[in-house]
Amino acid sequence: MQVNGTAYRTVWMEDADPAHVHIIDQRALPHRLVTMRLPSVDEVATAIREMYVRGAGCIGATAGYGMYLAARAANHATFAADLARAAQQLIATRPTAVNLAWAVQRQQHAMQAGHTPAEKIAIAHGTARAIADEDAAFCRQIGEHGLALIRAIAARKPAGQPVNILTHCNAGWLAFVDYGSATAPIYAAHDAGIPVHVWVDETRPRNQGASLTAWELASHGVPCHLIVDNAGGHLMQHGLVDLVLVGTDRTTVTGDVANKIGTYLKALAAADNGVPFYVAVPSSSIDWQMTDGLAEIPIEERDPEEVLTVHGWQDGREAAVRIAPPHVPAGNYGFDITPRRLITGLLTERGLCRAERAAILALFPDTYAAAIRPPS
Ligand code: MRU
Repeated sequence: MQVNGTAYRTVWMEDADPAHVHIIDQRALPHRLVTMRLPSVDEVATAIREMYVRGAGCIGATAGYGMYLAARAANHATFAADLARAAQQLIATRPTAVNLAWAVQRQQHAMQAGHTPAEKIAIAHGTARAIADEDAAFCRQIGEHGLALIRAIAARKPAGQPVNILTHCNAGWLAFVDYGSATAPIYAAHDAGIPVHVWVDETRPRNQGASLTAWELASHGVPCHLIVDNAGGHLMQHGLVDLVLVGTDRTTVTGDVANKIGTYLKALAAADNGVPFYVAVPSSSIDWQMTDGLAEIPIEERDPEEVLTVHGWQDGREAAVRIAPPHVPAGNYGFDITPRRLITGLLTERGLCRAERAAILALFPDTYAAAIRPPS
């Protein structure tokens, strides 16, 4: 996406510098746009764990590049063991988003075709780029399918009235390599001249809505309002939300959705108020093995400090403020599960489908077959 006239991706590699992965350091947004060069798999793992990069697609693509850096650095005598260790290290960084393990395993599988370390390194380089390019392409396609959805809602509204969309957390271009999943249809509708307006949940505790989604939308000129996480139900009761559109970190093959904590409550409120609730899901975020989201999807628990302390910007620099009494413990659950019964539809790169196994498999028979094939 364009930032001040320059096209950015969230993660990339430069031809002249194949020894580093470049990222946007999302911790500095919205106050500063900072990029960073990562020289090794250790630094890639830190960047994912500490959320310099975050969002399902973005961490998947970053891990793909991390595997390439690990291959470059691997000892030729212990190549396989070094790569297995790097894979474990990356997968352990964040448990909920399936894109991470998917990208690492795709790299491992692809490298099997190489006969020498040099061949494997070349394959890893190409695969990392392919993962990143695919991620951007999937999101662009989700945008095209979602545009049709927003256009249909706009057609039912009085002329000129904006389509009001509520979103949670950041499933924008910063959460992917480009375009975003939930925001791609919003950008596409805005660019097509359809009036849209977005309610942006601030998304405690790390405030990805406030710091990232609001920044993205405002930079693109999309009208939006930041709201506290608990405002959505009230807005829906008053007819101020036409649809809810969120992303996902992992969706089971049966249509249960893991997304940022608080998504489930939005789905409940949407169901109670007859507001359609859509989830934008690239196939790289579908877990083809899991069938019961609540029982099977691992929910990341993060440092309680993220709940006890609020980070912001004061007098030209980063500031942290404690908001709870001393010695009060906090729980920090990163994600929740929205059961398929609360979901109106899934927006994928191949189109819209119901949140259920048969509909998902009808769209992705080849992807499913490849995913469940035993490893060769
Ligand atoms: O903890 P994060 O910021 O990596 O969480 C990811 C998210 O921003 C959301 O859950 C998002 O809606 C899905 S990722 C496309």
